[in-house]
Amino acid sequence: MSDTFDRLWAGLAPLGRDRTTGGYQRYSWTPVDAEIRTWFTAEAHARNMTVETDRNGNLWAWLGEPGPDAVVTGSHLDSVPNGGAFDGPLGVVSALAAVDELNRRGLRPTRPLAVVVFVEEEGARFGVPRLGSRLLTGAITAERARGLTDEGGVTWARAMADAGLDPDHLGADPERLARIGVFVELHIEQGRSLARLGAPVGVAGTVWPHGRWRMDFSGQADHAGTTRIADRNDPMLPFAETVTAVRRAAVEHGAVATVGRVWLTPNNSNSIPSRVRAWLDARAPGEAALRSLVDSVDLAARLAAAEHGVTLASFQESFFPKVAFPEELCDRLAAVVGGDSPAPVMSTGAGHDAAILASAVPATMLFVRNPTGISHAPEERADPADCYAGVTALTEALADLTAAKV
Ligand code: GLV
Ligand code: MN
Ligand code: MN
Repeated sequence: MSDTFDRLWAGLAPLGRDRTTGGYQRYSWTPVDAEIRTWFTAEAHARNMTVETDRNGNLWAWLGEPGPDAVVTGSHLDSVPNGGAFDGPLGVVSALAAVDELNRRGLRPTRPLAVVVFVEEEGARFGVPRLGSRLLTGAITAERARGLTDEGGVTWARAMADAGLDPDHLGADPERLARIGVFVELHIEQGRSLARLGAPVGVAGTVWPHGRWRMDFSGQADHAGTTRIADRNDPMLPFAETVTAVRRAAVEHGAVATVGRVWLTPNNSNSIPSRVRAWLDARAPGEAALRSLVDSVDLAARLAAAEHGVTLASFQESFFPKVAFPEELCDRLAAVVGGDSPAPVMSTGAGHDAAILASAVPATMLFVRNPTGISHAPEERADPADCYAGVTALTEALADLTAAKV
């Protein structure tokens, strides 16, 4: 099994890798994305799987006839800018390796089995994460998705059409959703819980509520050398005060919050900026704490903007409520994959397609130990032995789920 995993991993690894940083730039509907989709399709065909592209651009590989009450596994193959190799790909590669392992063990699933690759999970190109699974479940409208734009102003609809797919049929897909009996996504852990517990594999119990908020601070562009300090309406100042308010609010609320993306206009060293556009990513164990954190950041930003003669417009770009995966399913998988004692069931602050699907179908996740905890960075890694343990765990989970109904 380790050979299969290594071979699959080696085939995918060069696609979208930045030779200088070792990180990945894998964005939806780009030429690299097309290569990745071709890679997946070829690997699925090599396993006699039937590959379909759904109306939203997600890829489905079926072992046997597509049908109702299917056991579905998979993840995503897009990345954040300069992302790691494991976030997403580990779930897809492990799923294909688990299909081989089921075959090798001579196990015949009694339910249909599919491997799915969701598009635009990270939202790195079009701003809204989990887009493929949200479209599938109807959690976002087709109109909104079609009009999302990338940094160059290209819409999702245009980009999808340029990639050879028809954006006219985007949207909720109840028939496809109805085929899913249960969904299990394997993913690298994005933290050190498993490393602390000394366990190679865990099960996800809950996903923290989280969201993204855009803040536009607008002032007056002017000359950096001649404009008196008293005459400035510099949006950089309230923005800077807001960043420190974000940190304070996160600590006060027992939460995490980040300003990781900023666009400056005109972004020139001898001009006072006219606009700072920034994104707040905030996550908390509960929704009340999250809402309160965001309100306190908004208040601090408004006060700072007023003080500097700058206007502020803020918008919620996405919001994901807290998700608790079904306890019975989590406990069952924890027992199946844990060996002598059940695998740990844990909560996470990271968002996942499984959490979107959980609103419609029984779903949960398997996490693979990440010794450093680092993710969304080139240094993200899991040890080979833990990757193989992940494939074994997923194989056991699929064998168990395909042999009996949840
Ligand atoms: C995805 O990785 C997220 O948690 O934003
Ligand atoms: Mn991610
Ligand atoms: Mn991911």
